[in-house]
This record gives sequence, C-alpha cells and structure tokens, in this order.
Amino acid sequence: MKQYYTIQGGQRLEGTVSISGAKNAAVAIIPAAILAGECCVLENLPHIQDVQSLKTIFSMLGCDVEFTRGDCLKIDPRGINTSDVTFKEVSSMRASSYLLGAMLGSYGEVELALPGGCVIGQRPIDQHIKGMRALGAKVYMDESRNVVRAQATRLRGAEIFFDVVSVGATINVMLAACKAEGQTILQNVAKEPHVVDVANFLNMMGASIRGAGTDVIRIQGKQKLHGCNYAVIPDQIETGTYMIAAAATRGDVVIKNVIPTHMEAISAKLMESGARVIEGDDGREYYLRVTMNERPRSVNIKTMVYPGFPTDLQQPMMAYLCTAQGTSVIQENIFENRFNHVKELRRMGAAISISKRTAKVRGVETLHGADISATDLRAGASLIVAGLAASGSTIVRNIEYTDRGYEHLEHKFNALGAKIERVSQD
Ligand code: EPZ
Repeated sequence: MKQYYTIQGGQRLEGTVSISGAKNAAVAIIPAAILAGECCVLENLPHIQDVQSLKTIFSMLGCDVEFTRGDCLKIDPRGINTSDVTFKEVSSMRASSYLLGAMLGSYGEVELALPGGCVIGQRPIDQHIKGMRALGAKVYMDESRNVVRAQATRLRGAEIFFDVVSVGATINVMLAACKAEGQTILQNVAKEPHVVDVANFLNMMGASIRGAGTDVIRIQGKQKLHGCNYAVIPDQIETGTYMIAAAATRGDVVIKNVIPTHMEAISAKLMESGARVIEGDDGREYYLRVTMNERPRSVNIKTMVYPGFPTDLQQPMMAYLCTAQGTSVIQENIFENRFNHVKELRRMGAAISISKRTAKVRGVETLHGADISATDLRAGASLIVAGLAASGSTIVRNIEYTDRGYEHLEHKFNALGAKIERVSQD
C-alpha cells in the first residue's frame, strides 16, 4: 500500500533525539557475517527497510536470521545451501553487491543479480570486479541475464590500486581478501566510518585487517573466522539529517548516540551558516547540540569522500540553504545525477539553477508547502527538511525511499515538536 507524509511546516524543533545504528554499516556487516561460518549477533541494528530486505534475502538462501530482541539480529550462516543469488529481491538494493565478496570468500563461488539501489548515477561495479579478479577469481558478466558470476578454487592475496575511491569496492574486496591466502594490500581506498566499522567487525571475527580509515588497508588472509557479538556504529547521515533539520527550523536540538568526529564536515558548514554546534559528553554518551536563531547565511558545498562533506547530505543541506541570505553554490562530485530533488524544491518556491554538477541556490525568504515526490532516499530526506521549515502544509510522496534508511522517522521528528503524519493511500 502506498504511503505518504503530510507535514505541517514552520514548527521549531526542540528537544532530544537519539540516533540509530548506521544503515550503510549494517547493510555491509550483515553480508560480512557469512564469513564467520558460525553464529554472529549484531546489536544496534536499525529497523529500516534495507535491513529487512537483506533479512529476507538471507532467509531465502537458507540462513537462520532473526531479531532476538529490539535491535539485535542473530545470523547463523551454516544453513546456506546455495550460491545462486539471482532472485528479484536482490536486484532492488545496492548493498546486495556485498554478497559477491562475502560468498566468494566463504564458498569460492557465487552467481549474483546485479545490484540496484538509488538512481543517482550510473553506479558501475568495475572496481569490485577488478579487485576480485586480482585476488584470482574468474568473474563473468552475463548482461543478458543481468547477472555477475564469480568463481575461485583459491583466492590469493594481491596488491590492488583502485582507480576511483569507492565505498562499495573497498568493502567488497576487503570481505573476499579476509579469506585469501597471504597478504592483500588495498590502495586508494574509501575511509568512511562504515568502512572502518566493517573492518572492526571482521577483526572481531578473527580477521587481520590493518589501516582501515587510512588510504591503505592491509589484510592478512585467514583460513577460518569465527562468530562474535558486535554493535554497529551510529548513523552519520541520520545524525546529519537531524542537525540540518534543527538548523532549518531555527530549532534547538540535542542529538544523542553520535560520534562527533564523524560529523566535522557538517558541523563546520552549519557553523559557517550561523548555527551554533556544541559537542558534549553526558558521561554515558556523546551528543551534539545544534541551535539556530536566525536566517542562515549562504555557504558553498563541495561533496567529497570522507572526511569531506558527504554526498548523502548534499540533498538535505540544499533544502536548508534554500532560505539562506545570499547564493550558495553546491557542487556534487561523487554522483553524476544527484539533483533529482531540485525540481520538487522549486515547487516549494526555491530558486535553484543547475549547470552540470553544480547547483546555485539563491536564498528566498521562506519556502511554502506543496505536493511533492521523493525520487531516492536522500531526496526524500531533503523534501522532509524543506517541508518542516516551510510555511503551510506539504505532502511528501514515495516515502518508501525514506523507509529504506530512516528508523522511526516521523516518531523521532514528532517528539521534537514536528507535525508529520504518515497516511496510507487506498
Ligand atoms: C555507498 O554507495 C553508499 N551506499 C551510498 O549511500 C553513498 O552515497 C556512497 O557510498 C558514497 O559515499 C552504501 O553504502 C550501501 P561508491 P556505493 O562505490 O558504494 C564510482 C545512501 O543514500 N564507482 O563509493 O555505491 C561511482 O559511480 C546511499 O545511503 C565506479 O566508478 O558508492 C561513484 O561515482 C546512496 N566504479 C563513486 O565511484 C565502481 O566499481 C563512489 O561510489 C564503484 C564505484
């Protein structure tokens, strides 16, 4: 059943919100658990559609996977009885690509439907394949069936220099290399917090990975890994979304269960725009407090790999800057097609012009409510931020996108004083 949000905008967000486990770590760590060959218990997993979809895929493979309590997922891969992962559920999500590295490393073969995910650019997997081939796998693309097939009698450690910095390729090749014979050196790798989180999880399972979070990762392959308990890090992008929403509504919000160092690029830009961002530690956990009392100043943004400004927050940040004083220039350097939210923001009164990968946002006094549709996950987050800050009532359609990546979104915002309602369409 189709659902949409209605938002009564213009409410100042105030109060405390707690951040859930990181989606992009969770969707890699779940496939990585196959490599344990034993039971793993994952804690702090977000209840989001992407996790649910992976759970369904794992059940279809014969894996014993269930939520034991709240946010804990138990995964026992011993029942996996096939390397054929070509069913349709797989192609709907990007993170299913991690089954390539995890199953190749575990079973020496896999046949995988090519991954889908948000339509924000071409999103090739050439670097994943280059890495698997360097480890000694035979990899075939069967384009007629939209399937990739990989097979290796034995994976051997190798030195691999990635042509582009890719989160997905770094994680995928790291997964396979954990079980390769000898040492693998990955160069020009992604340094995102979720890459480090996956490496920490693999090390907890007995892998030997050094250097995650730097440009070079060294992996000493192991024949056998083992089960463990592991807690996923807080979500950097969910944190950033609440920080931006707080500033956009001229609010005052304390955001708990965060890792402030992951947020530095966002904090810096919010402060440049006039917001106050304070880091704190209440003795139990770190928090960030974002306060904004005035119309923001325009700022320029260039999306970059970590620790630069994340592409995943470019869209929510643009919604915020729509009402800034002056013109903000936003350059999208990671994905070639991540401005699909712009035409919807324009319907709310935003003044945005696009030239190739650059958006110029001329700030207007206020946005007004409209009937708008999300085209991808973070486009949805952008439109919700805009709706919260706008005057009047906004309808945001296609919220199946935000359901993929935000846990309890309307409950969390409403607890801060927002007025968001989920409506089911007949
Ligand atoms: C991950 O996607 C995230 N998804 C994305 O989050 C995020 O936007 C992106 O990293 C960048 O941070 C998951 O973690 C599941 P990439 P991924 O490989 O791994 C090019 C969200 O909103 N490239 O780092 O697909 C690619 O085209 C989602 O939560 C190649 O050329 O991103 C892009 O231009 C959306 N060849 C750039 O690299 C390859 O083989 C970065 O992509 C792989 C990538």
